[in-house]
Formats: sequence, structure tokens, C-alpha cells
Amino acid sequence: MEVHLAEGHAARSLAADVRAGLTATPKSLPPKWFYDAYGSELFERITRLDEYYPTRAEREILAARAPEIARRTSAHTLVELGSGSSEKTRLLLDAMRGNATLRQIVALDVSETALREASAALHAEYPSAAVHGVVGDFTEHLGLLPGEPPRLVAFLGGTIGNLLPDERAKFLGSVRDVLQPGEWLLLGTDVVKDRDVLVRAYDDAAGVTAEFNRNVLRVLNRELSADFDVDAFTHVALWDADNEWIEMRLRADRAMRVHIPALALEVEFAEGEELRTEISAKFRRDAIGRELADAGFDMQQWWTDSEGRFGVSLSRASD
Ligand SMILES: C[S@@+](CC[C@H](N)C(=O)[O-])C[C@H]1O[C@@H](n2cnc3c(N)ncnc32)[C@H](O)[C@@H]1O
Repeated sequence: MEVHLAEGHAARSLAADVRAGLTATPKSLPPKWFYDAYGSELFERITRLDEYYPTRAEREILAARAPEIARRTSAHTLVELGSGSSEKTRLLLDAMRGNATLRQIVALDVSETALREASAALHAEYPSAAVHGVVGDFTEHLGLLPGEPPRLVAFLGGTIGNLLPDERAKFLGSVRDVLQPGEWLLLGTDVVKDRDVLVRAYDDAAGVTAEFNRNVLRVLNRELSADFDVDAFTHVALWDADNEWIEMRLRADRAMRVHIPALALEVEFAEGEELRTEISAKFRRDAIGRELADAGFDMQQWWTDSEGRFGVSLSRASD
């Protein structure tokens, strides 16, 4: 396991994000802070919910296309960003091993516990490959990634949808900057579809997503000694049709004042005030193709699952 972050980086980054997000109007927090050990475990539970189709749909695509991806890219290194449990990634790794091209696996995630477990499992399952687990932020630390070219960068799960459009453009540009012409990006993108199907995927009947959403407040209570009354916030998932994204929010059930001693900050919430905790943008093939082209990628393939719910694109870094 490689922890490439300077001592205290995560704490400084959390402090800066919380100060900026909770003093802004409207209030917001970046989704990366959901993922402590419990948050990562909750996300794995979400992937198994009936309502949460993206994981199953993306797995179907990878199961059908992994051999073709391995052949076409002849990649020696699989670099996975926001890797989590790397569960679906095994489909790619098996195909690369079958193609006799797999040499290195690089997994980068902000969640150290998820990464530690996944790296150990990958090491045991792919003994002939070198496994590097890198704790880091994919919006900041791509320059630190090891790996022998040709590399295939996989960014799965629709995680790219958590970035705002300007962050997305910057992110794709920085992925392109670390690649050489002819290397590859495999991108999982959830697609625009019926509003009710989308909202249900982020507001399941068992309340697992609500628990996941509220977990960010527990992280702030633990890491910054904040005193959020976690149960006084209601989970909200709504479809923003103009921006074509799902928004997750936490709505204050009553007026309250939250103390965050580690930041010497007090934050007022009005009754009913909402804190945005995540966006999850949904995509259309042509628009994501243009965004990739703007960043210096040539989208060569676009595959969907049999029900057209999710898209996976394979792009080559342009010359
Ligand atoms: C939606 S989950 C997807 C997990 C997995 N790739 C999948 O397809 O199931 C997002 C993952 O990205 C990680 N993550 C979120 N924001 C991150 C960031 N800024 N930098 C690095 N990892 C991040 C989370 O810890 C989590 O493992």
C-alpha cells in the first residue's frame, strides 16, 4: 500500500472543504467525504440494492466486452480511479490475464480502508501482477500514479457524474495529461432515463442511501468534533431536469446551530434548509463524446447494457 499524501493532507483538505461548503449559500459538501470505512461499506450495500441498477448494468457490459477491451488496448497496466472494492474490475483483469498482457494493477481511492482490503485481495488473486494501492484524490493526485505503459485507466461506477461540469472538464484534461498518445480511458457513465427510475436508485425503500447520505455528518462529528444531530436531517433525492443530474441533499428538520470547534466555526441551519451532498450527472452518448474530444480523447467505442440503462466508453488518448 502506498499512501502518497503528505501527513495531514486529508485533514487539511476536509477542513477547507467544510469551511467553504458550510459558509456558502446554498450549503454544500463534496461527496468524497462520505467514504470513511462505514461509508464505503454502505456504498457496497447500495450496489446490491434492487433499485440501484448502475452496478448490475455496468457489470453486464464489462462481462460482455472485457475480452475485446483487453485485446484492443493490449494494456500492461490497469489503473483504476475511485476503485472502492474493485469488484467489477476483476472482469477486466481476468481478460487482461487471459490476453497475457497484465503486468501491473494500480488502484487509487480516497478511502484507505476500502483500498487496503481491495489491494490485499487483488494481490492474492493476481499473484503475477504488481499491485499498487494509492491513497489519494483523483482530482489532485494523478501525477503520482505509477504504471508501465500502455495503460488503461478505468473510471467506473458513474463516479464521473459526481463532478460538476467544470470539474469534469478539468479532471478529463488531467487524465489526458498523464497519458501518452495511444493509451486508454474506459469510462462508466450512467445515462439519462425515466425520472422515477433515477430517483428510486438514490432513495431506496430500505433507507441504505439515506444512511449513506447522513454518514457525511458522522464523519464531520468524528473528524472535526462537530455536533450535528444526525437524526435531525432528512435524506432528499431529486432529479434536476435542466442539468440532467440527481441531487442528494440533507434537509434540516428544525432550525439549529451546529458547532465545529476544530474550525472555530458555528453554522446556522434554518428549518427546512437543505445541504447538497452529491450530484450524480447522467449522460448522453454524443455529449460525453464531445467532452472527451475536448479533453484530447478519441471515443472509439460506446457500449450499453441490454436495457440501455448505462454506458461504458473506450477512448484513446489522441496524438
Ligand atoms: C460511486 S463509488 C464507485 C466505486 C467503484 N468504482 C464502483 O464502480 O463500484 C466512488 C468511489 O470513489 C472514491 N472517491 C470518491 N471521491 C474521490 C476522490 N475525490 N478521489 C479519490 N477517490 C474518490 C470513493 O471512496 C469510492 O470508492
